[in-house]
Amino acid sequence: MRPVISPGWTRPARPEMSGEATYLRHHLRGLDNWNPTATSAGEHLQQVRRMDLNECPYPPSPKVQAAIEGVFARLNRYADGSCPELAARLSATTGVRVPNILFGPGSTQLLKCIIEISAGPGDNVVSPSLLWHRFHGIYEALEADATLVANRPDGSIDVAQLTRAIGNRTRMLVVITPNNPTGMMLSEDELRHVILQTPDNVLLFVDEAYHEFAMHAGGPDALRMLQRERSGPWIVSRTFSKAYALAGLRLGYAMCSSPEIANAVRLMSSTFVVSAFAEAAALAALDDPDYSTFIVEDTARERSRIIEGLRALGCEPMNSVTNFVSADVGRPGIDVVAAMRERGIRIARWAYPEYGNYIRVSMGAPEDTDAFLDALAEILGTS
Ligand SMILES: Cc1ncc(COP(=O)(O)O)c(C=O)c1O
Repeated sequence: MRPVISPGWTRPARPEMSGEATYLRHHLRGLDNWNPTATSAGEHLQQVRRMDLNECPYPPSPKVQAAIEGVFARLNRYADGSCPELAARLSATTGVRVPNILFGPGSTQLLKCIIEISAGPGDNVVSPSLLWHRFHGIYEALEADATLVANRPDGSIDVAQLTRAIGNRTRMLVVITPNNPTGMMLSEDELRHVILQTPDNVLLFVDEAYHEFAMHAGGPDALRMLQRERSGPWIVSRTFSKAYALAGLRLGYAMCSSPEIANAVRLMSSTFVVSAFAEAAALAALDDPDYSTFIVEDTARERSRIIEGLRALGCEPMNSVTNFVSADVGRPGIDVVAAMRERGIRIARWAYPEYGNYIRVSMGAPEDTDAFLDALAEILGTS
């Protein structure tokens, strides 16, 4: 049976170009500017509630500050991008060998390098259609032939259809768990299905940017399962941006089933990409487990409040386990985002035309939750 293929995300039409930029590769001509971190004129960060980028609302652990200060005198030197002490620490906790671990300036940058080791122009990648839209940008940038498999009606990943979509030309299968923008994670059985039904000649890539939240919610540990149950190749990516409150530091890492795969990703990345602050900050964050526990617990509490609040307003929130919640608000998300922004609250909408009524809100501090729910009641006319 053919899998259900959904076009999913579609890039906005490009303007007709007069004087076509022939010096650019064909698919890179006429692209629009895109910067999700841009702040509009007059929007001072101090006054704005940032609930749009799935950041942590709290500063990092005080231990991180002390560690960063200690690095200052070494900033004249390039840092050792292999982060030897951090790699050894992660190796000890995960069982992944040091040569199989690599670092990048956030996992975002690693995603492209990871996909690039398997997929060049025309190479087939199988992926859910509903996933963090950066992936669509990567497939496009690489001119990969992406088979986008429709998610189930509730937004969850249809693992049976996903593995059925693997063909003779498939080089990589991508899953994100928990997924963005749904916030939903794969169950242990679903992960096992993906692990066992992805053939050994296909690289299985699991983005676990929200791993710590999934663990707190009792989810399966994709890495452990891959180590125990998969005979074929795999990569797991994780980040210090979310549960360790280090989004501005830019540090992500990938753990690979072999040094050969890790070296391929290293080559696609570059030298000198990891900041001198990164390793010291990450080690300090790992040295303060109480602080990251506070973050995931606080996140879970605010997530429950947001989900309940959305339901009380007649919206349909998704079953998120992460630091963000998406919901059908019954009217165009773009309008709700704009109305929130007028009230000093930044939230996101979904970049998928068929989900035009969906918004995504990242967890903030308790007072951010209050402000968001009050504003939404006002915007929806239910206050
Ligand atoms: C699924 C997913 N992967 C990766 C990232 C990137 O995280 P970072 O580049 O900060 O490590 C994000 C960010 O929101 C994400 O949602």
